Amino acid sequence: MSKSYKIAVIAGDGIGPEVIDQGIKVLNKIAELDGGFQFDFTHFPWGCEYYTEHGRMMAEDGIEQLKAFDAIYLGAVGFPGVPDHISLWDLLLIIRKSFDQYVNIRPVKLLKGAHSTLADVEREDVDMLFIRENTEGEYSGAGDWLFKGQENEVVLQNAVFSRKGTERIIRYAFETAKKQGRSLTSVSKANALNYSMVFWDQVFEEVSAEYPEVKTSSYLVDAAAMLMITDPKRFEVVVTSNLFGDILTDIGAALAGGIGLAAGANVNPEREFPSMFEPVHGSAPDIAGKGIGNPLASIWSASQMLDHLGHENYGRLVVDSIEELLVRNTALTPDMKGTASTSEVGDEVVSIIAESISAKV
Ligand code: NAD
Ligand code: IPM
Ligand code: MN
Repeated sequence: MSKSYKIAVIAGDGIGPEVIDQGIKVLNKIAELDGGFQFDFTHFPWGCEYYTEHGRMMAEDGIEQLKAFDAIYLGAVGFPGVPDHISLWDLLLIIRKSFDQYVNIRPVKLLKGAHSTLADVEREDVDMLFIRENTEGEYSGAGDWLFKGQENEVVLQNAVFSRKGTERIIRYAFETAKKQGRSLTSVSKANALNYSMVFWDQVFEEVSAEYPEVKTSSYLVDAAAMLMITDPKRFEVVVTSNLFGDILTDIGAALAGGIGLAAGANVNPEREFPSMFEPVHGSAPDIAGKGIGNPLASIWSASQMLDHLGHENYGRLVVDSIEELLVRNTALTPDMKGTASTSEVGDEVVSIIAESISAKV
C-alpha cells in the first residue's frame, strides 16, 4: 500500500478556499504521477462563517483534532464582520503558537517571468530567504487594557523575547545560512527598543561565534526596509523578529512579483507537532468570490509542504512549474496583468507539471 499523508485543510475566508483548491489540485497531480504516495485531505470548515454560526473560530477541541495530521494547509483568515484580532488570534495565531511553529520561512525570490516593482533590478539580485520568529516577540499577546473607555485609559502590549525563543530562531537561521553557503543578516532595532532588541543583538553575536564560516550583517529595521528596495542583493538569509518579519516580507512580496506570489511555511523543526503551509496574503475581501485571486502563493506554499514531507524533488518541480507558467505568460490572474481565472491558473500549473514529468520518463 502506498504512503498516505494526512493533510488538514483550513481553507478559511475570502479567497482562501479559491486558492487552496488549486494547491490541492497540484498536490493530487503529483501524487498521481508518482504513484508511490497519496494525500488524504480532511477539510475543516473553520473561519469567520463558522464564527457567525458557532460563536467561535474553530471547534473547541480544534487544536487536539489537528495534532494527528502530517501537515496543515491554510488559505486565509479574516473577513469584515468579525474583528480581526479575534479571527486571527483564535485560529491562525493560536495554531502557530500551540504547535510551536517557531520558524516562519518566507522566500523572497524573483522568479523568471515575474515582475518586480523595482524598475532597474537584475532578477538574481532579489533572492532572499526570510526566517521570521513566529511564536513570541511583539506577537506574545501579553498586555492589558485598563480603565477602558475612561479618561485614564491605559493600554499595554508587551513584547516577549525569551532566551530560548531568541536563541533557537537565530540558531536555525545560522544553520540555514551555513547549509546554503550564504550570508546571514539580522534585522533589529536596538537604538529604540532598549531591552528586547539589545538582547536580540547580543544573542545574535553569541550564536554567531559558533558559526565562523557564516558571513553576517546586522541592520536596524528602518534602514533594512530602505535597503531592501535600493540594494536588495545585500540580503541573502535574513533573521528577524515576528512583527519586523511580517512587515518586511510584504515589502519582499512587492519586490518579488507581488503578494499573489508570496509563500510561507510555519515550521516546527522538531516535528513534535504538524507544520502549517500558507500564502503570505490575507483573505482579500475586495476580490473574494470573483474567482480571480492569484493561486500561485498557495501553490508555492504547497511546494514547501512537499519539501517538508521529504519530497524536495517535487517541491523544486512545483516552483519550476510556476516559473514556467510566468515565462509562458498565457494564464495569469489580473493582479499579474492577465485575464485568467484562479482555477485556469491552477489547471495550467497542473498541466505544466504533467508535461515535465512525462518529458523525464
Ligand atoms: P490582503 O493580503 O488580504 O489584501 C491586500 C491586497 O492584496 C488586496 O487588494 C487584495 O485584493 C490583494 N491580494 C491579496 N492576495 C491576493 C491574491 N492571491 N491575488 C490577487 N490579489 C491579492 O490583506 P488585507 O486586505 O490587509 O487583509 C484582509 C484580511 O485578511 C484581514 O482580515 C486580515 O487580517 C487578513 N489577513 C490574513 C492573513 C492570513 O490568514 N495569513 C494574512 C494577512 C491578512
Ligand atoms: C501574516 C499575517 C498575519 C501575521 C496576521 C494575519 C496575523 O499578516 O501571516 O503575514 O501578522 O503574522
Ligand atoms: Mn503579514
